[in-house]
Amino acid sequence: MPAGKRILLIVAGGIAAYKVLELIRRLRERGISVRSVLTRGGAEFVTALSLQALSENKVYTDLFSLTDESEMGHIRLSREADLVVVAPASADILAKMAAGLADDLAATALLATDKPVMVAPAMNTQMWAHAATQANIATLKSRGILTIGPNAGDLACGEVGAGRMSEPHEILAAIEAFFASPAQQPLAGFKALVTSGPTHEAIDPVRYIANRSSGKQGHAIAAALARLGASTTLISGPTRLSNPPGVSLVAVESAREMLTACQAALPADVAVCAAAVADWRVASPANGKLKKKGGKPPALELVENPDILAALSAAGNARPRLVVGFAAETDQVVENAKAKLKRKGCDWIVANDVSSATGTFGGDSNTVHLVSQSGVEDWPPMSKDEVALRLARRIGEQLAALR
Ligand code: C5P
Repeated sequence: MPAGKRILLIVAGGIAAYKVLELIRRLRERGISVRSVLTRGGAEFVTALSLQALSENKVYTDLFSLTDESEMGHIRLSREADLVVVAPASADILAKMAAGLADDLAATALLATDKPVMVAPAMNTQMWAHAATQANIATLKSRGILTIGPNAGDLACGEVGAGRMSEPHEILAAIEAFFASPAQQPLAGFKALVTSGPTHEAIDPVRYIANRSSGKQGHAIAAALARLGASTTLISGPTRLSNPPGVSLVAVESAREMLTACQAALPADVAVCAAAVADWRVASPANGKLKKKGGKPPALELVENPDILAALSAAGNARPRLVVGFAAETDQVVENAKAKLKRKGCDWIVANDVSSATGTFGGDSNTVHLVSQSGVEDWPPMSKDEVALRLARRIGEQLAALR
C-alpha cells in the first residue's frame, strides 16, 4: 500500500495530458499526494485549474514567478516528493533531461531533484523512432530513470505506431510496483505506534489543563514511518493538524485515555512516544461547571498521570522491540537524556535541544541528539519532517538488525 507517498507530477506538452487528470484521481484514491508542475506546452492541453482541483494542491507553472519561489523554491519542490513522474513526457522534455537543460521550472526541478524519476513518453511515432529521441531515452535509462511505455496504436496525429502514452492504470501500476520495492519500504511488515500532541486534563466539563505542544514532530514521525511502509497507528491528543495520509489516527484527550489507546494498539514492533503528556491531572474533576461563587477560588488538587513511555517499556511480552522517547532539555541535554533512558527503560531517547532558537514548541525545525545505550549521535539542525524521516530510516535499520 503506497498510501502516504508523495508524487511530483510534471505535465509536459502533448494531447495525452488529458489522461493525467484520471491518473491524479487514481493516485489520490490510494492516499498518494500529488503536486504538479505544468509546462508552458502542457498548459496548451490542460488547465492548471483542473490539475489543482483534482490534486487539491497548488500547481506550479513558472520558474520566474516570485510568489511561487517565496512559498516553495524549485529545489524544495523537486525534493519534497518520493517519486517524480513526467507524464506526458514529450520529445522536448526528454531531450532537455538528457542534455541537463534548466530553462524552465519543469527542467530545473528535474535537474535539481535527488529523487527517482519515472517518465511516460508520448509523441508522434516518427519523433519516438528518431535516433535523437532513442539516444536520449538510452541516456536517461543509463542514469537510472524509469520508463513506462509508450504503447503502440492509433495516435492523435492520425498515424499508427509506437508513441501513445501508457494508460493511467498502467502508469499507476508502475508507480505502485515502484513503491512496493523493498528499498522504498524498509518498514513493510512492521507495526508502529506513535504518540503525539498534548493531553487535555479536565478540571470540569468545560475547562482543562493543557500545554503548548503542536504535535508537529509526532505527526511527522507517524507520516514518515507510514511512508517507509510501516502499518502505523497515531495516538494523538487534540491538535490542529490533519491526519497524515496512510496513518490510522486514534484521537484521545487525557493521559489515561492515551495509555489505554496505546495498550490497545499493542503488539507493535516500535513505539515512538512524542506526545507532551501532562505530568499531572486534577484528582477529582467536577461533574458540573465550577461556579464563581465569590470568595476563594477553588483549590485544584493534582495527582500524577501514568507515564506512557515507561509503561510501554515495561510491557513484558507485549513490549515493542524498540521503544523511543523524547526529552526536551534546555541544559546538559545529553546527560539528562541518558538519565531519562535508564529511568524510563526505553531503548532510544531523541533529545530535543529547546534552549536554542530551533526546537521550540510549535516551530518547524529541531536540533536533536539520538541517545542510546551504545552512544550518542548529534544531528545537525533540520526540519521536523527531516528529523522524522531520518528517525524512521534509523528505526528501519534497527528493526532489520533485530529481526
Ligand atoms: O518525563 P518527561 O516528560 O521529561 O519525558 C518525556 C518523554 O516521556 C516523552 O517521550 C513523552 O512522550 C514521554 N512521557 C509519557 N508519559 C508521561 C510523561 C512523558 O509517555 N506521563
